[in-house]
Amino acid sequence: MKQKYYITTPIYYPSDNLHIGHSYCSVAADTMARYKKMRGYDVYFLTGTDEHGQKIEKKALDAGVTPQAYVDNIVAGIKRLWELMDVRYDKFIRTTDDFHVKSVQQIFKKLYDKGDIYKSEYEGWYCTPCESFWTESQLVDGCCPDCGREVVKTKEESYFFRLSRYQDRIIKHIEDNPEFLQPTSRQNEMLNNFLRAGLEDLCVSRTSVKWGIPVTFDEKHTVYVWIDALSNYITALGYGTDNTELYDKFWPADLHLVGKEIVRFHAIIWPAILMALDLPLPKQVFGHGWLVIGGEKMSKSRGNVVDPVFLCNRYGVDAIRYYLMREMPFGSDGNFTNEALLSRMNSDLANDLGNLISRTVAMIEKYFDGVIPPMGEVTELDNELIDLSKEVYNNYCENMDNLRFSVALSEVWRLISRCNKYIDQNEPWVLAKDESKKARLGSVMYNLAECLRIVSVLISPVMTTTCKAIAQAFSISDELLTFEAASTYGLLQSGQTVVKQPVLFPRIDIKKELAELGGDSEQKEEKKDKKEKKQEKKQEKQPEPAAEGLITIDDFAKVKLMVGKVLECKRLEGSDKLLVSKILCDRERTIVSGIAKWYSPEEMVGKLVTVVVNLKPAKLRGVLSEGMVLCSEDKDGNLALISPEKDMPAGSEIG
Ligand code: ME8
Repeated sequence: MKQKYYITTPIYYPSDNLHIGHSYCSVAADTMARYKKMRGYDVYFLTGTDEHGQKIEKKALDAGVTPQAYVDNIVAGIKRLWELMDVRYDKFIRTTDDFHVKSVQQIFKKLYDKGDIYKSEYEGWYCTPCESFWTESQLVDGCCPDCGREVVKTKEESYFFRLSRYQDRIIKHIEDNPEFLQPTSRQNEMLNNFLRAGLEDLCVSRTSVKWGIPVTFDEKHTVYVWIDALSNYITALGYGTDNTELYDKFWPADLHLVGKEIVRFHAIIWPAILMALDLPLPKQVFGHGWLVIGGEKMSKSRGNVVDPVFLCNRYGVDAIRYYLMREMPFGSDGNFTNEALLSRMNSDLANDLGNLISRTVAMIEKYFDGVIPPMGEVTELDNELIDLSKEVYNNYCENMDNLRFSVALSEVWRLISRCNKYIDQNEPWVLAKDESKKARLGSVMYNLAECLRIVSVLISPVMTTTCKAIAQAFSISDELLTFEAASTYGLLQSGQTVVKQPVLFPRIDIKKELAELGGDSEQKEEKKDKKEKKQEKKQEKQPEPAAEGLITIDDFAKVKLMVGKVLECKRLEGSDKLLVSKILCDRERTIVSGIAKWYSPEEMVGKLVTVVVNLKPAKLRGVLSEGMVLCSEDKDGNLALISPEKDMPAGSEIG
């Protein structure tokens, strides 16, 4: 019987757009799930969304829709993102799913009946305009972190979970089972910063939050955050329902993959809940690092997010998945830059792998009429290559088993580089000139194609399309593409025909590309310098810049601004920067805007924007633009649309 493997990502908050940092976790989980499947495991891969809470309630209110409609819309977008990125989960759980709601209610009741949940009072800070509770540490300069206004100390009746009761058992579990919490550094963090400092009981219900799971025995309370969210890992398997087949088969989880900031919830609170329920603990919680930008975590609130849809559409899904898994060690933070992405694409993908595939196919076409020749006598050079392929296979497995994706891939690239060197050492173009060396030339070709077969298998958990292109290029049958088959050298069938593939990874002119993207780091500095110098010059010339820059109310009145609603939007063909939108304001207008880097056409649709409606129409790349959409621009050249703060009808005047 197959061994089971149950892997989960965190369930994501339904925010408008997940960013590349979120994709990081899902791509890693998908990679691991695919790898384990190839290793013969019966895999169950769970992901989903964490849909309750005050924030969602408020956002839905602002958007004038019900919380359910609000989350439905966003969840559809998240599912589309996973489809685009080839993240193939077995189940997508939503905390608003009926079965989850019922099961969480049972869990809550069970914990209450056991005496692990008790009623008390929660003391926190309340922001009246936002109707939100905040803890001391969430406040920003003593004010509401959402609106910046004053908060007042308030008490609210709440249920509490007796987390403190489980402190010693959790300490012991972490100490006795080093595999439970990885990487190892996270163990000390949890033990020293939280567990040994003493755990406080946890507030697990609210009376002020309506968008949540009602507590069945005290309906003015809703279940607050963590019991709802964490339970997803078992409710998704049917725990607490009539059908517990999946639960019986897959629980305990083999791996909870989580970002480092939520390790505490998974390594302390979740085990405590499970202990209280008398259920087995997950085998491993792995806390991965963050994708950071300029030293700061990529996150929506910091406004420094990178859109995965944009990256995948522009560079291809495989390139992005490869970059995410290769660029940084999985447990550590890694800086995201366009430069690093583009140079990896050029060096590892275009130069090393892409080149090796196209050169090998081209040479077999040229020297052997496209038919893969047999492997002849084995020379020392061949033996080196064969030994390396075996070494790489073993190292790859060991590293993948330990979630060292980056090292595992670097091992595969060791083989790829060795193959490129093997071509140079054997000089096929010289062998081809001598008919007596034909068999040797055949061997060289065979070895290259055979190594590419192994490469294709090893990259397949990460690069889900490229592996198929390699298989097609050398007409490799499915049974030779299994993990098992990749461990044996020499299985590739000679006599098969090669099939030329379109260029898999075109080389990118990095300078040009960065300029087009608006660049990062140096380019931006350069741009900024120029801008600043221009500004300084301007100021030198103008003795009274302030007076000079002022306009009268009549001047301002000349600009007619209106609220517009985007009805349709698409990219302008042949341009990476421009979007063409159909916007309803005083009438339907076609407007071209240079915002494609920051907004995808899909997310534009439905947005309320500010439109200058009395701008003289102008043709942009052949399209007549009848107005301008206003944006704000930060010092790094990032744009954000200016939208009315409340829902306003299209055509409302601004001024
Ligand atoms: O925390 N780099 O949801 P979430 C890497 N709903 N990973 C990042 C990241 C970045 N820049 N930004 C976010 C929640 N993530 C809860 C989880 S589980 C029972 C409940 C990761 O949408 C983050 O670390 O805020 C987390 O693992 C995941 O995205 C979901 O974050």
